[in-house]
Amino acid sequence: MNQSTTGPFPGPSQRPDSTAVVGLQWGDEGKGKIVDLLADTHDGVVRYNGGANAGHTVVVEGQKYALHLIPSGILYPGKAAIIGNGVVVDPEQLLHELETLADRGVDTSGLLVSDRAHVVMPYHKREDEVREAVLRKTSDETEGRPGAVQAGQIGTTKRGIGPCYADKAQRSGAIRMGDLTRPEVLRTKLEIACRFKNNLLGGLEDDEGETFDPQALAARMEEVGRRLEPMICDTVYLLHEMLADNKRLLFEGGNATLLDVDHGTYPFVTSSVCSALGIGAGTGVPPQRIGRILGVMKAYTTRVGAGPMPTELHDQTADQIRHAGREFGTTTGRPRRVGWLDLVAVRYSAMVNGATCIALTMLDVLGGVGPIRVCTGYRIDGRTIDRFLPDGQALREAEPIYEELEGFEPFESTATDRQQLPDGARRLLDFIERHVGLPIEVVSMGPDRAQTLVHA
Ligand code: IMP
Repeated sequence: MNQSTTGPFPGPSQRPDSTAVVGLQWGDEGKGKIVDLLADTHDGVVRYNGGANAGHTVVVEGQKYALHLIPSGILYPGKAAIIGNGVVVDPEQLLHELETLADRGVDTSGLLVSDRAHVVMPYHKREDEVREAVLRKTSDETEGRPGAVQAGQIGTTKRGIGPCYADKAQRSGAIRMGDLTRPEVLRTKLEIACRFKNNLLGGLEDDEGETFDPQALAARMEEVGRRLEPMICDTVYLLHEMLADNKRLLFEGGNATLLDVDHGTYPFVTSSVCSALGIGAGTGVPPQRIGRILGVMKAYTTRVGAGPMPTELHDQTADQIRHAGREFGTTTGRPRRVGWLDLVAVRYSAMVNGATCIALTMLDVLGGVGPIRVCTGYRIDGRTIDRFLPDGQALREAEPIYEELEGFEPFESTATDRQQLPDGARRLLDFIERHVGLPIEVVSMGPDRAQTLVHA
């Protein structure tokens, strides 16, 4: 991937390749806002992974929009908003988001969905719930036993993401968006799928739901397919045509690198490749077309769901950060786990993604919390290491080693230059840049588009 020297917001005379925006932590880094800011200098915004488990909040002129499936770029009239083949689409949720946006006067005509994106069906959501219930029970029964963490709940969003990706890999009976417009194919596939699902779920004592009727499901999905048909197309050719036409694409990562199924804290991860490495497979656009990879990170760490998080706090500072940062899930409303910034994790994520620069978000939230701690290494079995441990069991043993930095008071988020930030905030930025080895080119100090420092 090319190193870029043009910064995150190149002018119209510079036409570098496309841009990727990816989360460097466990999600909720504020990617939606960054994508929204960058959308202006791009021609299309593309999702390549995940599904309605992702939650992107964007505030435009005081109006808050919470999106799950639709790329944040939809808020720019006239931009293409593309859901690539690597996304798993809950078509009813998609229609719901489209209707909500249309009711608020947003033009959604730029939305296109890959015919190869897999469909999240009602049985996937039930399977997700039942699996979590079974895991909870197993976890209770095995508590205290070595290895029990592997049996514990993942704490999924229950949006059917894992079961849908599992069916994609399994192939038989898996349904793609294009199938919604082919009634005969859809019916046959649903017969196969319901036979498997009813047997699988019916055999589990934790399932109390009704059996799935393939005919009724087919009728329901055909109706959804009729409504979505105008948006369903071959997005691989579409994206390549756009690139051939000198159009600039913006790839919007869902979830985040530490939740990546290959490179995250497995098994406490989601089921897709969330890092920039997923763009090729999830869109059909090869990596050399991506010039800039913007890694988005918060000035502290949060996590939703289960799994290790070495810098987690359970004290008043955590409450203060949680409330100042409105750290409650966009998708599930769950309070997020909160902790100090973990730069071992961020440096690892930046390396895996090939990030070319950083967007730092939520800097304002640390105003007034007192001295700031930053994790720069782990102690494990009496040894000190500075490598991340992308494994749910191994990372549980890691004890953070902190450096303490002077804090800073709450400040007006109207700075237009790094020099206007409080001394303590500037020192934190310098510290992060030195430690990660990348420039911070965007600093977000509040939810609105205006509360942002660019080329920081
Ligand atoms: P799933 O993606 O619903 O299967 O959930 C797997 C894990 O990823 C759970 O711990 C979720 O809380 C977490 N997760 C999935 N998507 C996001 C996200 O966009 N932000 C934060 N956590 C997420």
